[in-house]
Amino acid sequence: MEFSIKIGSLEKQRSACVVTGVYAPRKLSPSASLIDRVSGGYLSGITRRGDMQGKLGSTLLLHNVPKIASERVLLVGLGREQEFNEQQYLDAVRAAVKALNETGVPEAVLGLAELPVKTRDIAWKVLQTVLVAMDSTYRFDRLKSKRDEEKKPLGKLTLMVERSQSNRSEAVLKQALAIAEGVKLTKDLGNLPPNICTPGYLAEQASQIAKKHNLKAEVLEQKDMEKLGMGSLLSVARGSNQPPKLIVLQYSGAAKKQKPVVLVGKGVTFDTGGISIKPAAEMDEMKFDMCGAASVLGSIKAAAQMRLPLNVVGIIPTTENMPSGNASRPGDIVTSMSGQTIEILNTDAEGRLILCDALTYAERFHPAVVIDIATLTGSCVIALGHVASGLFSSDEVLARELLNAGEYAHDRAWQMPLWDDYQEQLKSNFADMANIGGRPAGSITAACFLARFTKKYSWAHLDIAGTAWKSGKEKGATGRPVPLLSQFLIRKAAKA
Ligand code: BES
Ligand code: MN
Ligand code: ZN
Repeated sequence: MEFSIKIGSLEKQRSACVVTGVYAPRKLSPSASLIDRVSGGYLSGITRRGDMQGKLGSTLLLHNVPKIASERVLLVGLGREQEFNEQQYLDAVRAAVKALNETGVPEAVLGLAELPVKTRDIAWKVLQTVLVAMDSTYRFDRLKSKRDEEKKPLGKLTLMVERSQSNRSEAVLKQALAIAEGVKLTKDLGNLPPNICTPGYLAEQASQIAKKHNLKAEVLEQKDMEKLGMGSLLSVARGSNQPPKLIVLQYSGAAKKQKPVVLVGKGVTFDTGGISIKPAAEMDEMKFDMCGAASVLGSIKAAAQMRLPLNVVGIIPTTENMPSGNASRPGDIVTSMSGQTIEILNTDAEGRLILCDALTYAERFHPAVVIDIATLTGSCVIALGHVASGLFSSDEVLARELLNAGEYAHDRAWQMPLWDDYQEQLKSNFADMANIGGRPAGSITAACFLARFTKKYSWAHLDIAGTAWKSGKEKGATGRPVPLLSQFLIRKAAKA
């Protein structure tokens, strides 16, 4: 979808449709009032008769509104004016875009950015409008032999802003488009089936992104990883016929001496659990177990497209987790690249096994910070549901930066404790540590495991098991936490 910014008056736009808001009960927004005046009270007549009461998310499509240049006017309910804040703004935009998409208009002009949202400025409104519009029109139908015969999708949205806001809006629009494309890439990779999206496919995609955006891509093969002593990562790949890869993607937007932000993404392209095999129900969703990896690719692509003055390194350990005669057994002990030994008590706790070696590998980039992103634990879904990603960090400043970025991007994280008290649960009688810590605090002990490999730099861990995809009727990748990470990188670049 295309977007543009325009200064002017909504009632004068020659468009297939203009969109304006109505607060509950029956209170016209500023642009709706203007349309009402020009049209001789057409809108207030409609609200008076009760056809549009302003209920949040409701819509009413009008044709041939007198004296209005546009072919249609779409009214969107905003809810009560005193209660109108972030969530209401997002809901209103989503409802508007949905209605436009269903109507089949090729383009529309949106008059919702005029609505005041507490503590949020025009930049936030432009960013969120683009993200919500792209999100609600996203389809993954490339593998259907017949596309659903829908009406033509909405192709272009114009956002009306005030003259004083136009420069800022234009600048933010460019960033928003880059972030939205990063989100789309992350969704596409997540949604691809596991027979297509293999470790080799991810490596191929990384190389293509690198070519297009002038990045450096490097793919370490099994033998390279053997030389590096990545016994933990390789133990997960043993059961699979797909060769594992370690993808390294580098975006250099700043001077060489500037320490990079390193993003590490879990890339398990299918997680059966291995010998500790998972139950059959919903196992298909374990194709999403590479969404951390996909979010690293999406965020680096966005950073490159925004030309952020920043260095970013993406590290993606990627493999399948399969059962076979060659697969790791519960009880196996492996030696990680760090030299620490691990007793594998459950082969389904494989994410931490591939991440620990990638985290050790990260040391060689002398990182400013390292953030890993992983669909790591079912336990995190139990703790935080599908609303917040779990955030773990021993660096309170970094934690705060990530939480703030997530709040602004409306891609929120919630901090969990990473106290040493939990480390006890990882004790093993036979190795330096076990790869599981029992049922209590499962997402925390997983983070504690990773913490043992990240002592040499400032580090944070995002558990996106509950937020990376949706189940049920709306099954599909969400593209999270690309908005959070992109916002974090934007802010880091501004400070650097
Ligand atoms: N990829 C899963 C985590 C997961 C499970 C994410 C369900 C989303 C939904 C991970 O590899 C895993 O299997 N974790 C185990 C760890 C356990 C064996 C300690 C889990 O969470 O059950
Ligand atoms: Mn698993
Ligand atoms: Zn997994």
